[in-house]
Amino acid sequence: MSSQQASANTPTAATTVGNVTIAKPPLSAPIRRTYTFKVKRYDPERGSYYWKEYSVELTNHETVLDGLLKIKWGVDATLSFRYSCRMGICGSCGMIINGTPRLACETKPYDLGTDVITIEPLSNFEPIKDVATDFSEFFDKHRSIKPWLIRKDEKEQFEKLESYYPQTEEQLNEYLEFAYCIKCGLCYSACPMVFLNKDYLGPQALAQAYRWSADNRDEGAILRLKVVDSENGVWSCHYSGTCSKVCPKDVDPALAINLLKHWLLYGKRKR
Ligand code: SF4
Ligand code: FES
Repeated sequence: MSSQQASANTPTAATTVGNVTIAKPPLSAPIRRTYTFKVKRYDPERGSYYWKEYSVELTNHETVLDGLLKIKWGVDATLSFRYSCRMGICGSCGMIINGTPRLACETKPYDLGTDVITIEPLSNFEPIKDVATDFSEFFDKHRSIKPWLIRKDEKEQFEKLESYYPQTEEQLNEYLEFAYCIKCGLCYSACPMVFLNKDYLGPQALAQAYRWSADNRDEGAILRLKVVDSENGVWSCHYSGTCSKVCPKDVDPALAINLLKHWLLYGKRKR
């Protein structure tokens, strides 16, 4: 057993609050390792990619994003990547890590079981610089399916302050899992059909078409179904299922696409 592992089991002192003594659980000592980060960088001036390697020390608690920030702050300030929340909420830090689209802030090198971490920009997105990619097309497609609550009576919806649209738990569960999408683009990056057909709406937009149309408060399904019932809509999906495998929020876009196909073939109904 290494000295690091042995110290992981050393108990810490108990704490007394008032007349109650609380025994603290043993603290795990961090396990430190040095990793080689191989980063595929895009040079916008030359319009080409090149690889650069960095050595970075991280504990088993630190993430790929922590490693990239250590590189940026201490080694190479020119390295570009995108992030914001650092807690798997904003969807900004998607990149291909060891061959799979993942969130850098939720991926710990220690858990990958290798000392070599390869980092590439998301595929199916145009590069901007290094690992940062352009999401304009992705969000254009998202916007095209009208991802908001559509009501026939807009005056009532927007002008009557007392308007509200109740929902039962059962009605909420019709779409809830699809509402957890953080627009990270990992599913879009993993989709082989987006790679083959740049006009394909892709798993994220289609899953959101289902999410909003399955909402009992919404009256815009017919508008969205017109958009998705097309060569570049649901019928381009060949059900590879890679979108659902990489989604960090368990959204299952492949299921949403199949549910939309079912609606188009047999009419809109509850699941
Ligand atoms: S469906 Fe999942 S993988 Fe796709 S954008 Fe939403 S959260 Fe990201
Ligand atoms: S930084 Fe927000 S999801 Fe990773």
